[in-house]
Amino acid sequence: MKILAVNGSPRGEKGNTDRILQPFLEGAREAGGETETIYLKDQKINHCTGCFTCWTRTPGVCVHKDDMPALLEKMKAADVLVYATPLYIFTVTGLMKNFMDRVIPLLKPSIIKRGDQYIHPMRHEGIWPKRVILISNCGFPERHHFAGLVETFRIFTSGPDLDLSAAILCAAGELLKVPEAQDSIRWYLEASRRAGRELAEYGHITPETQEILERRLIDPEVYSSFANTHWESYDVQEPQPEKAVESAGAGTLSPPLPLPPMGKGMPDTFRELISGQAAAFNAAAAGNLCADIQFIVGGQEPGNYLLRIADGQCTAHQGTVPAPALTITTPSEIWLKIARGELSGQTAFMQGLYRTEGDFGLLLRMNELFSKKSSSAQ
Ligand SMILES: Cc1cc2nc3c(=O)[nH]c(=O)nc-3n(C[C@H](O)[C@H](O)[C@H](O)COP(=O)(O)O)c2cc1C
Repeated sequence: MKILAVNGSPRGEKGNTDRILQPFLEGAREAGGETETIYLKDQKINHCTGCFTCWTRTPGVCVHKDDMPALLEKMKAADVLVYATPLYIFTVTGLMKNFMDRVIPLLKPSIIKRGDQYIHPMRHEGIWPKRVILISNCGFPERHHFAGLVETFRIFTSGPDLDLSAAILCAAGELLKVPEAQDSIRWYLEASRRAGRELAEYGHITPETQEILERRLIDPEVYSSFANTHWESYDVQEPQPEKAVESAGAGTLSPPLPLPPMGKGMPDTFRELISGQAAAFNAAAAGNLCADIQFIVGGQEPGNYLLRIADGQCTAHQGTVPAPALTITTPSEIWLKIARGELSGQTAFMQGLYRTEGDFGLLLRMNELFSKKSSSAQ
């Protein structure tokens, strides 16, 4: 039995889909099956342009010169086609959809009645029907998310030429790659291996194995709290709607931003840079200075930030104030380059790479004011 598996995950062999697919194929090999995996992310497959040249001027041959003709040959030679795709917006990934569209050179254009439905007959006789296995996983913990995908494959295989033999659908699929979860999900991967073995041995997956593969991997409550902890660990800063922040008053200032960890080298982001400046504040040099330095930041990391100097301390904030002593308008990448010593602050100013408004004397003092550590920007 020749089994051709097509993996449509953009993550390819590093993805969750492959974590189910590979044990399945291993099982098939254990029972004498011959298997091959195609990772669509590594293939050059142009999207179908709908020209129907493959049905008219060059029957069976697409206008595109890419990797698809070779894949069609592999499909023709296979006994079983495994469509392995993560769920993307309730259906297959774009990679998989491109691939599925480009299969139409295998069909003839005529519409004929077979049984109780109209179909396009296959171009190459004698190599059909083929078994189809659908393997998918999704990020949500409930199986009903697969309803649209399953319906697509149900209709896709409803003709006489393809037979949807089984669907392995794993909800809460992001668990599959978590190292700490490996012991608790081993039974599922083992069931997938068993399914592959059964397919190669008996030509179908037994109801017992199918039933195991439909069991829940994890309690949805536990999974969603685990997933939320994961996403929260990124400390994501949602971009501020620029206009709303700019026009807002003093009330829009965030609490002081946390200082960067000790020993953190050069800043990677503007946010890190600005909190690094607060950490580098030289109170002795500031004396009794009381001033707000406003940053209006554009470029790759747009946002509004403020350095507030008062009572011998400096704090960094997100937001704006109505009357700062000094306003610096800069693309984030320019000020980062200055902070990293890749660009002279004075040269950048002379070249108009950033603008200032307000107390120019304060701009000239910035080197001295933020001189405690090397993370000073000026
Ligand atoms: C663009 C996009 C769309 C997605 N849509 C869904 C969805 O509709 N339902 C769902 O449960 N998970 C959805 N997911 C989550 C993926 O199915 C999930 O991350 C899966 O584990 C990815 O598998 P892979 O590692 O093999 O690529 C989506 C992910 C992406 C990136």
